Amino acid sequence: MSEPSVRVLRTVAEFRAACDAVRSRGERLGFVPTMGALHAGHLRLVEAARRHADRVAVSIFVNPTQFGPNEDFSKYPRTLERDVALLAGVGADLVLSPSADEMYPAGDTTRVRVGELSEHFCGPFRPGHFEGVATVVTKLFAIAGPCTALFGRKDFQQLKIIERLARDLRLPVTVVGEPTVRDADGLALSSRNAYLSADERSRALAIPRALAGAAERFDAGVRRAAELIEPVRAALSAAGLRPDYADIADPERLFPFALDATVGERALIALAAFCGTTRLIDNLVLGEDPAPAVSG
Ligand code: PAF
Repeated sequence: MSEPSVRVLRTVAEFRAACDAVRSRGERLGFVPTMGALHAGHLRLVEAARRHADRVAVSIFVNPTQFGPNEDFSKYPRTLERDVALLAGVGADLVLSPSADEMYPAGDTTRVRVGELSEHFCGPFRPGHFEGVATVVTKLFAIAGPCTALFGRKDFQQLKIIERLARDLRLPVTVVGEPTVRDADGLALSSRNAYLSADERSRALAIPRALAGAAERFDAGVRRAAELIEPVRAALSAAGLRPDYADIADPERLFPFALDATVGERALIALAAFCGTTRLIDNLVLGEDPAPAVSG
């Protein structure tokens, strides 16, 4: 039996032609934008894309405009050969691995900014981040053309921003959010987990535990915002994590609830916390997502 083959395309023109060819055969295109350093969460997105589409394209591009000056752009893992082998194993068909010069041609000044959804949570802590994400995703959507694009719900704010930009710009892309994939101990998969020491990794488990605790209180009928979020904040601090934020918010507008508010039948808990020097994010939509199964 021959090995499944993936076509790796280095230029925008080649990738665009390959995506057009898929559609001209009457096949549906699934698209998974990534920054590489693939883990099981990305592979799950490719598998989901195969259910939505006939052919699956993946982009691998560490996007410079979404990193702040003191963030990990230069040390972000770049593992193209390994990534392509993993993608072959899950049946991806096309990979775009473009150069930064092609994605941002000389003199490039166009940026995409998605209003209020970028204002809370990670927005104030990572100035320019969501503008960088929205800009590169808009470019990638323009290059891939009509498709179904899949993103993980772990980056819930990013997902909402991308849904909104596709809608507002009338792009011919259906955006689908897929459930967060977690390790057996409950930690959400992230390329940045590779930076954690053994001690940090065990302290990071306070995150899924705190989310599971909030889900338990919510399922028991608790609806006061403070009673849902304050134990989460306390658990993060007790584990020595340094939260940028841990908030409870409306899951559509991403607008945080006041502590004395009563939340509705769905409420988003979203957090970002440093564990050592590694910034981890996680979230749970109470009333919708299953609680993380935690162990260890
Ligand atoms: O989630 C990511 O990996 C990136 O933010 C994305 C969507 C590929 C844009 O660079």
